Amino acid sequence: MLEVRDLEKTFHPGTTDEVRALRGVTLSVPDGAFVVVIGTNGSGKSTLLNAVSGTFLVDSGTIRLDGTDVTRWSEDRRARKVGRVFQNPFSGTAPAMTIAENLALAARRGKARGLGPALPRALRSELRDRIAALGMGLEDRLESEIGTLSGGQRQALTLLMATWVKPCLLLLDEHTAALDPKTAEQVIRLTKTIVERDRLTTLMVTHSMPQAVHLGDRLVMMHRGKVLHEAAGEEKRRLRPEDLLSRFEEVRRADRLDAPAAELLRNLYV
Ligand SMILES: Nc1ncnc2c1ncn2[C@@H]1O[C@H](COP(=O)(O)OP(=O)(O)OP(=O)(O)O)[C@@H](O)[C@H]1O
Ligand SMILES: [Mg+2]
Repeated sequence: MLEVRDLEKTFHPGTTDEVRALRGVTLSVPDGAFVVVIGTNGSGKSTLLNAVSGTFLVDSGTIRLDGTDVTRWSEDRRARKVGRVFQNPFSGTAPAMTIAENLALAARRGKARGLGPALPRALRSELRDRIAALGMGLEDRLESEIGTLSGGQRQALTLLMATWVKPCLLLLDEHTAALDPKTAEQVIRLTKTIVERDRLTTLMVTHSMPQAVHLGDRLVMMHRGKVLHEAAGEEKRRLRPEDLLSRFEEVRRADRLDAPAAELLRNLYV
């Protein structure tokens, strides 16, 4: 379970570049929930995921994972509990290491270090099976360097690695956005299979409205560093892409109305 309370994060405070990226985000994700996060560009989705995984420390608020307060934990320490896949296929894996070596590292998440990159024999055959199940023809390329694979193959492997040892929380930040439609579909299917099979508590950011309505059992919509709307249960099941698009339209309209209103107020008070 993930519990985020009153998170605040401002980048470059006190300068002309100041950005209030998180403005009091509160969110509760029960065990096994699959939450899809949507929102306009710059609404704070990635910042929220980065805050949870510890890329930086938040200014205030708390982050609890399975009942433990991890707000001040380092990113490394949180990585034992949190698996993540980014948009960029080039992050998340070590390009000069082979598939087998990368997965050997993933298999040791949260365990003692210093065993070297060798893969135990039993793990190797499990690995081959799971990679064959990806349907990407990678099972005979365990000794290939990750850097030689396509973006889609890398994302599928990164997902496999992030979930090899069941994480308390899986964070996916537009992990199919850089892939061609067919490959994106393949990686989404894999995501669904793994998340449902292992009942992983998951936060997935996407700009795809079909993904937002068809995946997950909860939806969170962010805007300007806040959670604007949440849908779960029947409401989430009934959502259609048009509903979300009209929500976005409402938000944009409110923003447009905001600007003249602010201008009016400024003029009244000068
Ligand atoms: N490391 C950083 N340093 C400075 N500003 C940042 C940093 N990370 C994010 N921001 C700013 O915080 C705001 C929120 O950014 P964020 O990346 O969380 O948006 P997002 O919702 O993920 O958008 P997108 O859909 O475009 O990925 C933006 O104005 C962004 O420029
Ligand atoms: Mg983002």
